[in-house]
Amino acid sequence: MTVKQQIEEYWDWRSTSYTNGATSLGSEERELWKQSLLPHLERGPLRVLDIGTGKGFLALLLADMGHEVTAIDISQSMLEKAQGEAIKRNLDIKFKKGDAENLAFDNSSFDVVVSKYLLWTLPDPENTLKEWDRVLRPGGKIIAIDGNWFDPSPVKKFKRGIRKILQAITYRDSTTGLLRPGKFNQYYSSLHPSLPLYSNVKPESIKPLFEKAGFEDLRTDSLPMIHKYNLKCMHPLFRPWNTDTFFLISGISSKQDK
Ligand SMILES: C[S@@+](CC[C@H](N)C(=O)[O-])C[C@H]1O[C@@H](n2cnc3c(N)ncnc32)[C@H](O)[C@@H]1O
Repeated sequence: MTVKQQIEEYWDWRSTSYTNGATSLGSEERELWKQSLLPHLERGPLRVLDIGTGKGFLALLLADMGHEVTAIDISQSMLEKAQGEAIKRNLDIKFKKGDAENLAFDNSSFDVVVSKYLLWTLPDPENTLKEWDRVLRPGGKIIAIDGNWFDPSPVKKFKRGIRKILQAITYRDSTTGLLRPGKFNQYYSSLHPSLPLYSNVKPESIKPLFEKAGFEDLRTDSLPMIHKYNLKCMHPLFRPWNTDTFFLISGISSKQDK
């Protein structure tokens, strides 16, 4: 099985339990996300492509903000759940199965390309970002939200270890009864050497890739409102072991009109 097929299989399986806010965002959190995204977007409606949409986290928010959203994912199962959510909320989003590295869209089809928590699991981020630039119009915007989930520094590793123990005590997968990290490790322990950003998703490592792909005017945003909210909601037992360092990075396509 290829790396991509394994990734697809894992996320198909994971779709039964993955929420990550997409389907369970309360109204306060939804508003905070919208407020955090707003300064990065021009007045709409914009043609937006959400890549690796999962259950539609960004697609649902952006459609709700009045944009014209298309969303793709490698996992059909994720897309079906995202579609169900869009119908429930009466939002018109075009969902399509597809690979982030090879997009089935014409050049310059979108004003904005967004992705959330996808860069870390791409086998070829450098060429993938070039492909995203291809479908953006000249002057279009890329917005990626990600975090250094598997930061190998000793402090982060130690904190994750403690958190895993706490999770093992408190948290099992409701559908399978298995501990979720078990299945994750089963797939990603052999996959991660093929994923250049797996343990290195930091603005400093992403910026050169953005530049190589043709993006300029790069900006990062540490999303302070979301971090503050997440900490507030986190069980006090988990707070000292929180290692979340997700951030938003954006850039403008420097390609010229032909
Ligand atoms: C961690 S989830 C994030 C989902 C969503 N963006 C969110 O924030 O809730 C990663 C998603 O990326 C998708 N994915 C992984 N590799 C992909 C690829 N090459 N092309 C498209 N989607 C991909 C997975 O199927 C999964 O739904």
